[in-house]
Amino acid sequence: MKILVAGAAGAIGNKLVKELADGGHQVTGLVHSEDKVARVRDAGGVPVVADITDKSTLREPVSNADVVVFAAGSGGKAVGEVDRDGAINLVDAAQDAGVGRFVMLSSMAAGEPDRGPDELRDYLVAKGAADDYLRASSLRHVIVRPTSLTDDGGTGKVRIAATDKLPSGEIARSDVAATLAACTTDDAPENLTFELIAGEEPIVSAVSSLAD
Ligand SMILES: NC(=O)c1ccc[n+]([C@@H]2O[C@H](COP(=O)([O-])OP(=O)(O)OC[C@H]3O[C@@H](n4cnc5c(N)ncnc54)[C@H](OP(=O)(O)O)[C@@H]3O)[C@@H](O)[C@H]2O)c1
Repeated sequence: MKILVAGAAGAIGNKLVKELADGGHQVTGLVHSEDKVARVRDAGGVPVVADITDKSTLREPVSNADVVVFAAGSGGKAVGEVDRDGAINLVDAAQDAGVGRFVMLSSMAAGEPDRGPDELRDYLVAKGAADDYLRASSLRHVIVRPTSLTDDGGTGKVRIAATDKLPSGEIARSDVAATLAACTTDDAPENLTFELIAGEEPIVSAVSSLAD
C-alpha cells in the first residue's frame, strides 16, 4: 500500500516509517524541514518537505496515498496550530483526495482535560477537537490514544480499551508505532477510538480483536 506518515522524522513517526517500509509498503514521510530528510530516507521512506499548518503543501503528497497517518505533534509549543489545526488540515486533504483510511495518533484523555494534569489542558482540548473533526469526516479512521510515552525497548504487547477504561501508565514509543502500523491494514478496525497502555496482549491480536 501507499502510506503517508506526517511527523515522519519524529520519534514515533520515524519508527513507523521503518516498520511500514520493512513490511513492503511504499511510504512517503512528511518532514517539517530539509534537515530531517535523511532521517526518513534512512528509515526506508521517501521524504517530502511539508508544513501541516500550511494546507497548500499537503495536497500533492496526500493525493497519492491509500492510507494517511498523523504522527506529528508540537511538543506542547503550538497546540492550536499544530496538534489541532495541523491535524485538521491533514484530515481535510485526505478527505479531498479520497484517501481510504486515516489513522490518528492522539492521546489518552484527549477531549477530557479533567482526566489529565493542568499543564496538559490546552493540549488535551486541542487533540480532542482534532479527533472530533476526524470522526465527523467521511474518512474511515482509527484514533489511537496512548498514555505517557517512554523510549524503553518495546515489548510488542499492549493493553487496549475504549476511552476512560484504562488506568494511566506508560508505553514505549516503539509499541505505539507498531500499534499504528497494525491500524493501517485493510482488515484493521475502523471508525473506532481506543486508549493504549503497555500490557500483555500481542499488538496485532489486540488491534484485530477490536474489529470483531
Ligand atoms: N509525550 C507523551 O507522553 C505523549 C503521550 C500521548 C500522545 N502523545 C502524542 O504523540 C505525538 C508524537 O510523539 P513523538 O514522541 O513521536 O513526538 P516528536 O518526536 O516530537 O515528533 C513530532 C514530529 O512532528 C513534527 N512536526 C511538528 N510541527 C510540524 C509541522 N508544522 N509540520 C510538519 N511536521 C511537524 C516534528 O518535526 P520537527 O521536529 O521538525 O518540528 C516532529 O518530527 C506527540 O506530539 C503527542 O501529540 C505524546
